[in-house]
Amino acid sequence: MKPKKEWIEEAKRNAALAAVKHVKDNFVIGLGSGSTAAYAIEEIGNRIKRGEIHVSAVPTSYQAFTLAVKHGIPITTLEEHPILDLTIDGADQIDDELNLIKGMGGALTREKIVASASKKLVIVADERKKVKFLGENNQPVPIEVIPFATPIVMHKIKEMGGKPLLRESNKKVGPVITDNGNVIIDVDFGLIHETAELNRKLKVLPGVVETGLFVKMADLIYLGERFDVKKLGETN
Ligand code: A5P
Repeated sequence: MKPKKEWIEEAKRNAALAAVKHVKDNFVIGLGSGSTAAYAIEEIGNRIKRGEIHVSAVPTSYQAFTLAVKHGIPITTLEEHPILDLTIDGADQIDDELNLIKGMGGALTREKIVASASKKLVIVADERKKVKFLGENNQPVPIEVIPFATPIVMHKIKEMGGKPLLRESNKKVGPVITDNGNVIIDVDFGLIHETAELNRKLKVLPGVVETGLFVKMADLIYLGERFDVKKLGETN
């Protein structure tokens, strides 16, 4: 039997390979961030090299940008293509209604912008990410905040019943700084039952740039399991 670490990587890769089948010739696509989306980026590059497809892509992070360049995927921008055919991205947690928590890689704002620009959002993840309610297993909700506003946003989040923690870097002293020059606050809200309502309440706090709650944005999920890939969402 394969060690867990090994089959999880295989499960992530299989989910990514299934998602990349949705990429058609001449598509303009969004490229997600994280280790599972990285497998998808690699496979899109392979399909381009084999001459199966020509695509251009909007990356959701510096990581996605450098991977796209490495794998020979032409880069484009939302200026040139404000509407994208498809985005493939990862997730940190997925609930029964396909709502997501994203942002453990710190790329949530661009991920949400690119997702909102996409006709279709396909999520790739391994089975550990699937839960009944968001917030299970102490999963925090990442929130991108303008640095100046951090103290007051943390105060207001505590008043809302959340437990906020400023994300610290482990490779430098001080906080993690996002690709947009902001900080991330990881908030433990316990189990989340009113996802849309919580998202709305957070979004109106001055200084909050974006939340990691992706409410009803995912169209399709490929969930890599130990021996299979499960499809959630679309039936065909
Ligand atoms: C990036 O900010 C996140 O939204 C990622 O999509 C998420 O962390 C998934 O990453 P893994 O595929 O590495 O778990």
